[in-house]
Amino acid sequence: MTQSLSGLKSENLKGTVQVPGDKSISHRAVIFGALSTGETEIHGLLEAEDVLATAKAVADMGVSVEHLGTGHWKIRGNGVGGLSAPSNQLDFGNSGTAARLMMGVIAGHQFEARFVGDDSLSRRPMARVMDPLHEMGLNWHEDFDHLPLTLFGPERLMPISYKLPVPSAQVKSAILIAGLFAPGVTSVFETEATRDHTERMLTYFGAEVTVEPQAASDSQDAGQLISVKGEAELVGAPVTVPGDPSSAAFLTAAALICPGSDITIEGVLVNPTRIGFYETLKEMGADLSFENERISNGEPIADIRVKSSQLKGVDVPPERAPSMIDEYPMLACLAAFATGTTKMQGLNELRVKESDRLTATQDGLKACSVSSDIVGDDLIVHGAGSVEGGGFIKTHMDHRIAMSFLVMSLAAKEPIVVDDKNIIATSFPSFIGLMEQIGARFS
Ligand code: S3P
Repeated sequence: MTQSLSGLKSENLKGTVQVPGDKSISHRAVIFGALSTGETEIHGLLEAEDVLATAKAVADMGVSVEHLGTGHWKIRGNGVGGLSAPSNQLDFGNSGTAARLMMGVIAGHQFEARFVGDDSLSRRPMARVMDPLHEMGLNWHEDFDHLPLTLFGPERLMPISYKLPVPSAQVKSAILIAGLFAPGVTSVFETEATRDHTERMLTYFGAEVTVEPQAASDSQDAGQLISVKGEAELVGAPVTVPGDPSSAAFLTAAALICPGSDITIEGVLVNPTRIGFYETLKEMGADLSFENERISNGEPIADIRVKSSQLKGVDVPPERAPSMIDEYPMLACLAAFATGTTKMQGLNELRVKESDRLTATQDGLKACSVSSDIVGDDLIVHGAGSVEGGGFIKTHMDHRIAMSFLVMSLAAKEPIVVDDKNIIATSFPSFIGLMEQIGARFS
């Protein structure tokens, strides 16, 4: 059932808060725990629908998954190749990451698993993952490019060397995960660096992973070659999941546009492959700093301090897109409050997220009387320094569209109505509560 919600004019957002665990790291902690021998104790796991779908999938394939308290989970893995056939279909709900990473896992097992998802996930392209996995030997029934899809691994998976046709950490990760099962070395070449949590965490769990920068040559662009040694043995290890910078983005944005605000978000992941949004905000003139920078579990984290700021429009180059791919709807809404034009380039991948985010974002801006253009793969927002608002936003089963426009509503002249607040639970169930804790108002 859908439930609409709107944000009310808010000011003086204040406080020190923590956002829930990073979604990408949470999925990987569960999957690598399941493929390890021994125990993986996780603190700070994101308990959102997407990650719970991953946890349920590995439990359905014979892994012991125990919930010990808020964010505290214990996984007793079955080792690489040790999963058993699921007795029921695997439902990945709204989560592209869960479905695509688990395709890499199934590639290494000789049993059938049927993958299903909600309407949004069933519309998203799977060929980008199925192509390389099929090259390694994964078989399928039904539609190749969309869920529902029944998959079964071959007797012997083959290692491959694959050039990513799109900058996607999900595709890269699915191949590297499948590579764990194959003999020899499996490599992925990427020309644009995408989030590297799989590489970091596989190394932490004992796999042999190398990352080699490659210079441009006559036959190839510059990039990096990421390789994993197959027939790997992973050993369970404790994981503490840092705060999700993609969730912190919504609180950061709210503090920037609500007058008199000054908030600190503690313990946020600031991995260089994830902070394009924050770099862009600094260029826009945001009063924002990373404080107390430190390393936790092999990942850099920091406390983000942010105060209300008058933003100015900037050009966001296409090569920054992978490091802020989930933050464009929020940035587009912020750009409406800036003075001048913000040009966000190279957003093709936004068309295949939980919704066509490029269209959904522009439709939302239009509904709120914000002027914008889509030219090719670029989104251009003409900031007027303030936002009329008053629009009705169709979220299209996309949590980030819902949260972005709820934040916009906090500083718009007229409240903006978002058609479905329930979809937020896929990534950030405590969003409304945390926002209210710092002083934001909704009705
Ligand atoms: C993710 C990668 C990104 C991102 C998604 C999470 C991951 O998707 O949009 O929210 O955890 O690997 P793509 O790999 O499709 O760009």
